[in-house]
Amino acid sequence: MLNVVIFGAPGSGKGTQSAFIVEKYGLEHLSTGDLLRAEQKTQSDLGKLIESYTSQGNLVPDDLIISMLAKVLDTKMNKKGYIFDGFPRTTAQAEALKVMLAERDMKVSVMLDLNVTEEELITRLLNRGKTSGRSDDHFETIQKRIQVYHSQTAPVKDFYKKEGLATDIEGLGTMDEIFARITKAIDAL
Ligand code: AP5
Ligand code: MG
Repeated sequence: MLNVVIFGAPGSGKGTQSAFIVEKYGLEHLSTGDLLRAEQKTQSDLGKLIESYTSQGNLVPDDLIISMLAKVLDTKMNKKGYIFDGFPRTTAQAEALKVMLAERDMKVSVMLDLNVTEEELITRLLNRGKTSGRSDDHFETIQKRIQVYHSQTAPVKDFYKKEGLATDIEGLGTMDEIFARITKAIDAL
C-alpha cells in the first residue's frame, strides 16, 4: 500500500501532481479543498460556515476537517492507497492522521513537499483565478493563504521530518519535469 501526503503552499501544484500520481499508481485522491468546495456548493449551513473561513483564506477548524476526512476514508476504500492533498495542514491534523491510519492498519509512506517560490505561487494563482471561479483566488486572499501557510502549515514539515518521511521536490519547471521527480522519489521507496 502506498499512502502519499502531497504538501506545499497554495498554488504549489498539489492538485495537478495528484492527478498524475492517481493515474500512474491507482491511488484514491483525497483533497480536503475539493471536499470543502463540494459542501460549499450545496449552500447547506455547514457549507456556509465553511465558506466563512475559506473565502477569507483562513483554515477551517481542525475538528471539522478531521471528522470529514475520517468519514471519507471509510467510504472510499482503496487497497492500493491514498493521496492526501491539502491535509494535514496543522500539526494537530498530522497527529490525527497518524492515529486515523493506525486504527485502520495503515500509515503514511512518504510526504512530498513541493518547493515553489512565492513569486511563482502568486503568478499561478492569479492566472488560475481568471477562470477558476474560486472565491479565494484573488490577490488579497492569495496573500493571506500564503501567510497562513507559513504560520500554521509549514510546521507540519517538522512533524514528518521527525518521522523520517519528508522529501523535498523541486516544484519549479514543467508539470512533466516535476512529475518525473515525484515518480523517482516514490519508486525509490
Ligand atoms: P486547497 O483547495 O487545498 O487550496 P490550496 O492549498 O490553497 O492550494 P491550491 O488548490 O490553490 O493549489 P495546489 O497546490 O493544489 O496547486 P494546483 O495544482 O491547483 O484549500 C482551499 C482552502 O480550503 C484553504 O485555504 C482552507 O481554507 C481550506 N482547507 C483545505 N484543506 C484544509 C485543511 N486540511 N484544514 C483546514 N482548512 C482547509 O496549481 C495551481 C495553478 O498552477 C493551476 O492553475 C495549475 O494549472 C498551475 N500549475 C500547476 N503546476 C504548474 C507548473 N508546473 N507550471 C505552471 N503552472 C502550474
Ligand atoms: Mg489544490
